Amino acid sequence: MKKFLATICAAFMLMTPAQAEDLGVELSDIGAGEFNTPIEKFYATLPQAKGDYKSRQRPIIIEGAMNTETEVLIRALKNPVAYRELNYLFVAGTYKDYPVVIVRTEIGMANAAASTALAIKKFNPVAVINQGTAGGHDPALKIGDIVIGERSFDNTAYRSAYSAAGVGIDLTKQENIGTYAYDKTSGKFQAYTEYFSDSTLFNIAFKVANANKNFNVVSGVIGTGNTWLECVDYVNFLHEKYGSSCEEMETNVAAQICQNAGIPFIGIRVLSDNVTNSREYVPETAKVAQDFVLLVVENYIRDVLKIKGVR
Ligand code: 5AD
Repeated sequence: MKKFLATICAAFMLMTPAQAEDLGVELSDIGAGEFNTPIEKFYATLPQAKGDYKSRQRPIIIEGAMNTETEVLIRALKNPVAYRELNYLFVAGTYKDYPVVIVRTEIGMANAAASTALAIKKFNPVAVINQGTAGGHDPALKIGDIVIGERSFDNTAYRSAYSAAGVGIDLTKQENIGTYAYDKTSGKFQAYTEYFSDSTLFNIAFKVANANKNFNVVSGVIGTGNTWLECVDYVNFLHEKYGSSCEEMETNVAAQICQNAGIPFIGIRVLSDNVTNSREYVPETAKVAQDFVLLVVENYIRDVLKIKGVR
């Protein structure tokens, strides 16, 4: 009996710490909760918009999901004015003497779609840049590296192969079925398995990367989903099957809404984590993406908008 109890105890002690489920990054780490209070107070000190937005020139929109991903941008604006729609925050001002609107999309696909659509209706932008943090799928990329999204896709929009009950789950037997957006030529909504970034924005972003070697920048593919994947085999599978450089939760839906509206779009992401080569999560990298995107915006204003005199 003693021996039996000892065996049970040993088995129990072995199981608890060693086999406790490792769920990786905590939900409380990825929310912006802790940072909200002081920044919300600062936003409350900004002039709050009363009427409609009026601007002689069509603004550039820069999006970020969280306070950590938008604070640097909002603080960079001159004459900032806060707008709120359905409780999403939009801050309009100027940067390098050109109108720019920062959208805090909030986290996830539905929020990114709703806030992007509202922003397009309200501000009539000339271009939209979605930026923020992401998790790496490419083992060659390090935390802090920047991915300029040549294209994006929805890594949750798939049809799985049929398999019978009881044979187990194999998500590698899948086909991406895309998401539906408006096609100008046919005048209908159709499935897009990927959205390409605007080539002018893409080229400007690369020009900035080449001129500023302090940023580690690659061109890549952004995978979007309401998922945070830490299952390395599945991440490797997505990387191999779809060529994903990184994953996050907003870019592809913002691209989809911009496609509906015919607005030039690009996604630019900094790696805050990369489960293929590290167990760290460094949300402070969000600053790197914002610094980089401000340079992209400056160059876009100077090289594209002012030269062409876009209104
Ligand atoms: N997986 C999913 N989203 C991530 N984000 C950063 N890293 C990851 C990751 N590994 C971004 C999302 C979302 C927030 C949780 O951070 O875009 O806005």
